[in-house]
Amino acid sequence: MTETNPATERQRFAKAYWDERAARDAHYSIWGDPSVLDPDQLDEDAFARSGELSVRQLLPFIHPKSAVLEIGCGIGRILRPLAGECARVIGVDISPEMIAKARDYMAGVDNAELIVGDGASLPGVPNQSVDLVYSLLVLIHVDKRSAYRYLREIERVLRPGGLALLQFQNMLSPKGLELFQGVVDSDYPFEFYTPEELRWLLKSVGLEVFSENLNAEFVEVSAVRGSADDWIAGWRRDLSVDGVHRTGLFDPKGGRLDRDGLLAAELTNRGDTWRTVQLTGSLQRRHRGALHELCWAHGVLALPPGAEARIEIRYDGKTGELAIRGPKEIQQMPSRRSNPFPKQGALEAHFAVIPAGFNWSEATAELFPAFNGVLPVVERN
Ligand SMILES: C[S@@+](CC[C@H](N)C(=O)[O-])C[C@H]1O[C@@H](n2cnc3c(N)ncnc32)[C@H](O)[C@@H]1O
Repeated sequence: MTETNPATERQRFAKAYWDERAARDAHYSIWGDPSVLDPDQLDEDAFARSGELSVRQLLPFIHPKSAVLEIGCGIGRILRPLAGECARVIGVDISPEMIAKARDYMAGVDNAELIVGDGASLPGVPNQSVDLVYSLLVLIHVDKRSAYRYLREIERVLRPGGLALLQFQNMLSPKGLELFQGVVDSDYPFEFYTPEELRWLLKSVGLEVFSENLNAEFVEVSAVRGSADDWIAGWRRDLSVDGVHRTGLFDPKGGRLDRDGLLAAELTNRGDTWRTVQLTGSLQRRHRGALHELCWAHGVLALPPGAEARIEIRYDGKTGELAIRGPKEIQQMPSRRSNPFPKQGALEAHFAVIPAGFNWSEATAELFPAFNGVLPVVERN
């Protein structure tokens, strides 16, 4: 069960700090964008849209029956739009003031539970009751010891095979070092980690990192409760993808870039748990050993146990855009086409069906052979 240790000085500091921020400028302290800097001239729509964008990042990790918990939910910027995508959301925050504001912001959302926590534990959340724990823009501020206690709590509340998506401040980048140097003379709550350190700490509590995204500022880790190898093997065992149809540009005999094309596949979840897939399609030119992207499309599809779905990648010869189509529950991400198209090089269609947390790469394709892979595309003039 939840540990009930007396609060440390660090926890007391964090609670006072965030309560004061919540009372003074809740929106800006949550999302440091100029559009919400002035509490008297808040751009509520921009704030709401930023939450919807974060939900896109979370979609591959959830399905309609998921129970999802956010550590450091603030006023519910992400939780409010997320509540419509899953069965239950739970928000925990150290600041009673933030949670009071979250109750307002989330009024009318009836599948949400909001909890004032002590800054290091998940009180009242039963063991093995949650499918996904995520924390964005929070653990960067939490003192390392409290954060470690959260990791133990995450292991406790996740179901076996449950996932965690956690964002930390990256120490191993010039920007990270600069940010660190910028706070060494102050009490500003900021903590820094290396990716190795995170893998090590997570493993020590029974969470295994299976994928990480690094940028100049952040390390975002995707971790599973239990063994990452077992989770990946289960995913590969459960999902199959069979190509069923290719026409136009994707026809094996070839087509033209100014005509339409269709690539269709049958996706099956043979397992007894929900599996959410990230779908990626792209057209690329291989020129002098490098790949140049012409256009791509992303989608997310949650498949119930035993379900089958037909998905299609359509290329529009007029606009040069790709779109992923499937059951109506498919969540289409905005696609893009690069402009101008590279003119030289062999054309390839890339098509990937991969789990949460992975970005498409040739290494990922090796890891998930339940995947249609790379199709050479014959261009006819
Ligand atoms: C920058 S805001 C981000 C809020 C939310 N995650 C979002 O992205 O909209 C940080 C939030 O973390 C909360 N917080 C800070 N330290 C915490 C801790 N130790 N435990 C739980 N919440 C904490 C703050 O009260 C605040 O609401």
